[in-house]
Amino acid sequence: MNTTITPVGSLTAGEVREVLTAATSAPSLHNTQPWRFHCTPGAIELHADTSRALEAADPEHRELVLACGAALLNLRLAIRASGTVPDVRTLPEPGRPSLLATVRPAARRPATPAEQELAAAIPRRRTNRRPFHHDPVPAVLQASLRQAAETERGWLAVLDPPQRLVLCGLSRRAHQEQLDDPEFVAEWQRWTGRAGDVGEGVPVRSSGPVPEPQDEFVLRDFGAGGARTRVTGKDFEPEPLICVLGSFQDSRHAQLQAGMAMQRVLLTATANGLASSFLSQVVEVADTRRELRALIGGGLWPQIVLRVGYGSPVPATPRRPLEDVVTGELEPNRSS
Ligand SMILES: Cc1cc2nc3c(=O)[nH]c(=O)nc-3n(C[C@H](O)[C@H](O)[C@H](O)COP(=O)(O)O)c2cc1C
Repeated sequence: MNTTITPVGSLTAGEVREVLTAATSAPSLHNTQPWRFHCTPGAIELHADTSRALEAADPEHRELVLACGAALLNLRLAIRASGTVPDVRTLPEPGRPSLLATVRPAARRPATPAEQELAAAIPRRRTNRRPFHHDPVPAVLQASLRQAAETERGWLAVLDPPQRLVLCGLSRRAHQEQLDDPEFVAEWQRWTGRAGDVGEGVPVRSSGPVPEPQDEFVLRDFGAGGARTRVTGKDFEPEPLICVLGSFQDSRHAQLQAGMAMQRVLLTATANGLASSFLSQVVEVADTRRELRALIGGGLWPQIVLRVGYGSPVPATPRRPLEDVVTGELEPNRSS
């Protein structure tokens, strides 16, 4: 069916489709895309879709909220790129906890070059699990990534080599603990190692090399269960840039904010020619998350761990069609 979306506030139907496509390009744990958008004549509502929560990996839905925060930042930036100022209210109705934000397209004002640059990075950003080139990320770019986190009221801690060593040990412990949990493994197998393009989950083509015992960081094997070409001669970068995105609180609101900070860091990396991937076992297991909190000074709640560097191109992961994630003013056979 040829379906179109109707205007919202000052956005035309075509612009609404564009900004929702940008929102749904956000990363999410195992590519679950745990969001839903409801369009009214004046606003786009962002809802958490808890029916898509990963109850074994993310029982408190913290990472689900991070993913929705990333979608919210994309939505804000895409609205700005269309020349409109978004009026954003986060968690606007305490009685409706699944309503994470309302975004009203308000005044028209041209986007700045910096806003346009970040918005242009949205479709180019992807999770890159392959080895990166050995060139280190220059200090000036590390500073830009830290600044990106701070712009969204987050904090990016760049780990020094001794801290990285401790993180390796914590990641290994967390990874093993998860593999020992049959519910985690069953959930993992449901969402990963997919051969076809089914619009969700992590396809085999997006997996990195087959993990090997000498790897510094234990990477999740997204190719499990599916046939895949073994990447031979792989060699992960000797001095990876590992950053912990932290927040000052661990409330729902702080997690949503952290999702926006995470996404601004990832887009800033993309805009500067950098690739990125996630190492989240350590923040999914309560004990190791607590130890990571102590490792970065005790004042921040670690929300996500990112690896950043210079990578080679990787394919995009699929997304569900907009019609599956948007409700409200969605009408068939109307042109924009
Ligand atoms: C909160 C969160 C945690 C994630 N954890 C991991 C992880 O531990 N390992 C990994 O390889 N990818 C991880 N990812 C990346 C997702 O698998 C990825 O975003 C998804 O498959 C969509 O692909 P894309 O990022 O290339 O668009 C995580 C993403 C988010 C938002």
